[in-house]
Amino acid sequence: MAALTRDPQFQKLQQWYREHGSELNLRRLFDADKDRFNHFSLTLNTNHGHILLDYSKNLVTEDVMRMLVDLAKSRGVEAARERMFNGEKINYTEGRAVLHVALRNRSNTPILVDGKDVMPEVNKVLDKMKSFCQRVRSGDWKGYTGKTITDVINIGIGGSDLGPLMVTEALKPYSSEGPRVWYVSNIDGTHIAKTLTQLNPESSLFIIASKTFTTQETITNAETAKEWFLQAAKDPSAVAKHFVALSTNTTKVKEFGIDPQNMFEFWDWVGGRYSLWSAIGLSIPCDFLIPVQTQHPIRKGLHHKILLANFLAQTEALMRGKSTDEARKELQAAGKSPEDLERLLPHKVFEGNRPTNSIVFTKLTPFMLGALVAMYEHKIFVQGIIWDINSFDQWGVELGKQLAKKIEPELDGSAQVTSHDASTNGLINFIKQQREARVQ
Ligand code: F6P
Repeated sequence: MAALTRDPQFQKLQQWYREHGSELNLRRLFDADKDRFNHFSLTLNTNHGHILLDYSKNLVTEDVMRMLVDLAKSRGVEAARERMFNGEKINYTEGRAVLHVALRNRSNTPILVDGKDVMPEVNKVLDKMKSFCQRVRSGDWKGYTGKTITDVINIGIGGSDLGPLMVTEALKPYSSEGPRVWYVSNIDGTHIAKTLTQLNPESSLFIIASKTFTTQETITNAETAKEWFLQAAKDPSAVAKHFVALSTNTTKVKEFGIDPQNMFEFWDWVGGRYSLWSAIGLSIPCDFLIPVQTQHPIRKGLHHKILLANFLAQTEALMRGKSTDEARKELQAAGKSPEDLERLLPHKVFEGNRPTNSIVFTKLTPFMLGALVAMYEHKIFVQGIIWDINSFDQWGVELGKQLAKKIEPELDGSAQVTSHDASTNGLINFIKQQREARVQ
């Protein structure tokens, strides 16, 4: 695809911005068009409630919106969307299809990858997840001493941590009796150590969540958990009752000592950052299999009203700001002396004209949360097509991982390190020196 900057629709937009950009002022735009909210907002009505997207507090006009839509067309957003749903390998740097959308395809319309429908496999894993969580929650799944599971610990990082963590946090009001769910991601040993001190090995179940099963942080934390567990259980065959894996890599799962029966599979066409819809989300149904509302309704109403008022005020403050005149009047009304007034005035003036989007919906339900996540995933997809960035690979992160692998052995011993730039060498050598001083 041609570079964005050579696209005629982009150039048109750029030209418009050069000529009119500085005139874009939100206060004036709202004054000039009393119907601006209606012109620049959308409502999506579903059987599960309504979602309102208000984008009227953006620096846009009808012309700008038209040009943006023309740009999306010219960049081929619609065609790219078709290619994604058709299972084409739109993750072109890794040669993979991008089909997290198949994971929420509840209509079960066939979705083909290399000519094969992926839906039967998807459904098989979903069923396996459901019956596993039912067994854990009902107390049917027992630990090595016959105890029921009281704690489920998800060990993962990045997409194998943040997605499920976010969902369990967002849906907390629906959490009912069942095991406590923990998330351990950090390689800083405190995270796993502090968590383990609060657990009983006989009633703890570890979910090792890693697409590749090679991520150093995750595997190191998982090994630490296994060591801790075996100190109590003493018998490696007990691991099967306390460790399950979420992964695409059966070989590595076996190597770690987890029975492939206890592995929940997903596929290379699920990107790490889109994986909460896959087996990676296993900890979510462990927490909330049967949704029930448990908050206290009276106090909740008050909390929510205050939350909403603050949210609305924030968008208004960013948009309106406070002019010099308004700030002056406010200070005068507060009875400030002329000197104090002049001193404080510059600190009370805010430019405003800062854009925001507001998304408001009837009620946060699992369906609604899913719709919001899907909307953000789609946003990233569209941005990727427009900017010609592959939203599905992650070479930037890989670079960091490669460099970390090289540095890790250099941290051993006392030899001065000189193989990097002066800053990196300096940092490494300072750390080594401090460690040595501590040992002596
Ligand atoms: O941090 C980089 C990354 O590769 C993420 O993209 C990914 O979600 C995370 O690590 C975990 O990877 P894995 O699931 O393979 O352990």
